[in-house]
Amino acid sequence: MPESVPPSPSDKPLLAVLKGERRDPPPIWMMRQAGRYLPEYRALRADKGGFLDLVYDSEAAAEVTLQPLRRYPQLDGAILFSDILIVPFAIGQELSFVAGEGPRLAPTMLDARMRDLEPHMERLQPIYETVRRVKAELSPQTTFLGFAGSPWTVATYMIAGQGSREQAEARRLAYSDPGKFDAILDMIAMVTVDYLSGQIEAGVDAVQLFDSWSGSLAPAQFERFVIARTAWIVAELKKRHPKIPVIGFPRGAGGKLGAYARETGVDAIGVDETADPNWANRELPQGMPVQGNLDPLALIGGGAPLSDAVQRVLDAFSGRPHIFNLGHGIQQDTPLAHVEELMRQVKGGE
Ligand code: CP3
Repeated sequence: MPESVPPSPSDKPLLAVLKGERRDPPPIWMMRQAGRYLPEYRALRADKGGFLDLVYDSEAAAEVTLQPLRRYPQLDGAILFSDILIVPFAIGQELSFVAGEGPRLAPTMLDARMRDLEPHMERLQPIYETVRRVKAELSPQTTFLGFAGSPWTVATYMIAGQGSREQAEARRLAYSDPGKFDAILDMIAMVTVDYLSGQIEAGVDAVQLFDSWSGSLAPAQFERFVIARTAWIVAELKKRHPKIPVIGFPRGAGGKLGAYARETGVDAIGVDETADPNWANRELPQGMPVQGNLDPLALIGGGAPLSDAVQRVLDAFSGRPHIFNLGHGIQQDTPLAHVEELMRQVKGGE
């Protein structure tokens, strides 16, 4: 008589959906929910110096991970406070964040060869310490998400040394020096498996692979650099941690979304805001958990256009396991009141 069993106090709705259950209302979290739109984040960051100092101070990083959950108790997920560029830092590039300009990695992989870099795998350890600290404080209903960038997206930063227009440097290298390009992707993929395994062993419940720039690739390259590499990472992770769900987020995949969902082995798929949710629902395998896909700019706008957009997402995915999320990260200038509106609309209550 499963209906008469009271919900367990350790039930994690988000994790249940990742494992294929449907919940109503759907669980919710927001990509980049720990960050600069929160005044309490900005205050702590100012105190600690820079972004990287915050990431490497496990006590502070755990606090930042928990900040959005304190402000919005409706959140079902916590995402580890770290960055996808910790992997190149461990591979041996120097990492810095220039105020107002974003990340810098040196030397760039246009200038250096893989064997010029001296790996520093110990640079991953403090991140696991953050996971352990968060785990100790998290409510048993909250799903704890670890993450890494996917090889292609991380490679775009390693190769250009910074964010790049249309990822042109990396796309050029893929054609001009495929051997070197493959060696870079292979190295990232190997370290990523260790890094995600380390996060899992330290206590995360599920992991997400961010492929933020998968949209810039030609179809044959998408197959090799995105699908094949993601499939390899998922298979390796499943050997070590068969029960831990993997969320794939191939941002901008467009018409290649279905192929990614079917061919990578990911348990759940993140959909960005450029995909019509009704189209995505038809395109994706029946029963596959979907995460998304409110336009983060609708959240900035607020009002009736926001509630219409939220309702469209809820309706489109009402027949399958669904995790409500944004189509990409929450932006810095998002009014906190609009996030509250979103929480009320998705989860109910005053
Ligand atoms: O809530 C969370 O998601 C926190 C953890 C997190 C961060 N970055 C913290 C961060 C996650 C999951 C990321 C992922 C990330 N980092 C991606 C993939 C997701 C996406 O948004 O596409 C990418 C491409 C990066 C690389 C990166 N890190 C860039 C380009 C920048 C500068 C621009 C920006 O978005 O802020 C960062 C810095 C960064 N990473 C900040 C935070 C909170 C801002 C640092 C600050 O100034 O305080």
